[in-house]
Amino acid sequence: MKVISSVAGMQRTAEELRRKGGRIALVPTMGYLHKGHESLVRIAAERADVVITSIFVNPAQFAPGEDFERYPRDLPRDTRIAEGAGTGILFTPSVEEVYPGNYHTYVIVEELTTVLEGKARPTHFRGVTTVVTKLFHWTKPHLAVFGQKDAQQCAVIRRMVKDLNFDIDIVVAPTVREQDGLAMSSRNAYLSPDERQQSTVLYRSLQLAEQMIRGGERGASAVADGMKRLITSQPAARVDYVSVADAQTLQEVDTVPPGSEVLVSLAVRFGATRLIDNVLIKT
Ligand code: PAF
Repeated sequence: MKVISSVAGMQRTAEELRRKGGRIALVPTMGYLHKGHESLVRIAAERADVVITSIFVNPAQFAPGEDFERYPRDLPRDTRIAEGAGTGILFTPSVEEVYPGNYHTYVIVEELTTVLEGKARPTHFRGVTTVVTKLFHWTKPHLAVFGQKDAQQCAVIRRMVKDLNFDIDIVVAPTVREQDGLAMSSRNAYLSPDERQQSTVLYRSLQLAEQMIRGGERGASAVADGMKRLITSQPAARVDYVSVADAQTLQEVDTVPPGSEVLVSLAVRFGATRLIDNVLIKT
C-alpha cells in the first residue's frame, strides 16, 4: 500500500492510474477505521483495480463546540486496517492543504440538507459536500463508496453528483453492526461501558418501527412515539429526533403510503455522545 499525503502527489498518481486505464474507487473516511470502513473498502475492491482510502478529519463539517478536536485519531492503526482490507493507496491530506488560509469556496446542496441532520447541524453538509468534491477532483475516481448508516449524507452526495454532472458511480454499502445491533461508528469509542450497553436500544427501536410498519401501522407519529418510548426507557438516552420520512426526498410523512419506501432515522445522545442510525423500509 502506498501512502500519499500531498494533494499534488495524489493528483499525479490518479492521473497516471487513469492513463493506464485503471478503474479507481474512492472510500472517503475520517479515520479511526472499524469494520464498517473495512466493508466499504472490500466492496470498493470488488469493483475497481485500485482502492484509494482517504483519511481526513474535516473541520468544515464540525460546528464550533462539536467534537472536532476530540474526534478519535490513530493513523498507525488505520494504516494497518486500511491495508488489510484491500486499500491500494492511503491518502492523508493535511488541513493546511485542504483549507489554506483565506479559504472561501463551498459546495452547497439545497433542500435535502435542511432536514434531519441538516436541521440539527446546519453547516454540516456544506462541509461534507465541499470536502467530497475536493476528494473527487484529487483522486479522479470512477466510483465512490459510502455507508448507509449516514443515509442523508448518501442522498446529498448522490444529488450533488447528479446536479454537478460528476461522472462517478455512488455505491451505498449496508450498515455494519456489532453483534448486539449497535451500528459501527468511530464515535462509539466515546461511550462509557454503561452508555454502550444502553445504546443497544437504538437498533431495537428501529426494529420496532419495522415491526409496526410491517404489521400494518401507517401512522408515522405512532411509529415515532413507540420508538421514543422505547429509547427513553434507557436513563442516559436523550432523543434529538426520530423521523419517518420519504426515502427519496427525506421529507417527513404523516402516513406511510403502501408501495413506498421510508427512511426511519434517529439521532440520540448518550451523555456527550450523539449517535445516528436508520433503516430503510419498503411497504
Ligand atoms: O462519512 C464520513 O466519514 C465523512 O462525512 C466523509 C464522507 C469522509 C467526509 O468528510
